[in-house]
Amino acid sequence: MTDVTKPFIQALSGETPDRTPIWLMRQAGRYLPEYRELRTKARDFLNFCYTPEMAVEATLQPIKRFGFDAAIIFSDILVIPDALGQPVKFVPGEGPKLETLGSQADIDGLTPDRAAEFLAPVYEALRQTRASLPAETALIGFAGAPWTLAAYMVEGGGSRDYQIARKFALQNEKAFDDLIKILEQAIAGHLIRQIDAGAEAVQIFDSWAGALPAYGVLRWSLGPICRIADAVKAERPDAKVIAFPRGADSFLGQYASHPTIDAVSLGQSIPPARMGEVQQAGATPQGNLDPVALIAGGHVLNTEIDGILAAAGGNPHIFNLGHGITPETPIAHVEQLVERVRGAR
Ligand code: CP3
Repeated sequence: MTDVTKPFIQALSGETPDRTPIWLMRQAGRYLPEYRELRTKARDFLNFCYTPEMAVEATLQPIKRFGFDAAIIFSDILVIPDALGQPVKFVPGEGPKLETLGSQADIDGLTPDRAAEFLAPVYEALRQTRASLPAETALIGFAGAPWTLAAYMVEGGGSRDYQIARKFALQNEKAFDDLIKILEQAIAGHLIRQIDAGAEAVQIFDSWAGALPAYGVLRWSLGPICRIADAVKAERPDAKVIAFPRGADSFLGQYASHPTIDAVSLGQSIPPARMGEVQQAGATPQGNLDPVALIAGGHVLNTEIDGILAAAGGNPHIFNLGHGITPETPIAHVEQLVERVRGAR
């Protein structure tokens, strides 16, 4: 079913396409005036995510404007806690807020059985997006990784160093392991259903992997992500899996060498020269332009782009940012980026 002539899919398959594929994390978002306009029509952010027509429109906006090689479905990583019965609210200016999860009883009270039905609007949005995308544009589904989701669930929102979540994990080992297990299964199911609805690739966002100590990376980031990738590939062998263990920089090679991980997304703290390490371990590197260089633009931006393309060395590579695009990014700089990456070969 997968169309192998899509540059993004070719790069994920370990081939070098005619041009370097490019898409940007958070490519649908507040830096786009058409997004801000659409956003005013939604009651709140999650309502926006759960209304298929709006999610489809937001997903397509950056494709229409910039012609990226992949569309990522407009949703959020926190739909999983929401589906598991831990309601999420987005407070403007403050970010996500959840009721805190602090005991074995709270974890036992989660509702994995209702996730598929609860998340049906996400799958509907994928089906409709698929039908509207240009033939050469790939569609990406995604989920948060167990550690990043558990960190939000235990802390009740974002935090600086996730110390509350890390303490909870060590002081309540059984409860935390149960939580990670529930999340692994919920995430694998959500990714498989997104593939069935039209996603050709799925990305697992472990945005806060860098807050973990080394033993924690192995136990709560690398282990769970590898098991999720295995579960997805066992059911849907043609789908591509991208891991984004942001900040777990010492462990890159271990994510990259896992047989069911096709690509590893690199944060901007990783020197582009390390892309070769990922390629040699058998995965395609994705990244890793500093989002602030994209805000800066001009010769700074060009120098950074050229450095990344040179480091990729004509081997399989997907151009992206090292983290999400920020709301103040000028549209002209995104145009400059796409033109330069497209013109490079
Ligand atoms: O375009 C895309 O990349 C697809 C959609 C997408 C969103 N969030 C939309 C969104 C994706 C892939 C995400 C992932 C996500 N969400 C992550 C992992 C990536 C990362 O940035 O590390 C995380 C940690 C979240 C949780 C989350 N959602 C936060 C911390 C926020 C920020 C709150 C804020 O006010 O900025 C969100 C909200 C969110 N998710 C927005 C968008 C476009 C902004 C909401 C708005 O329009 O007000």
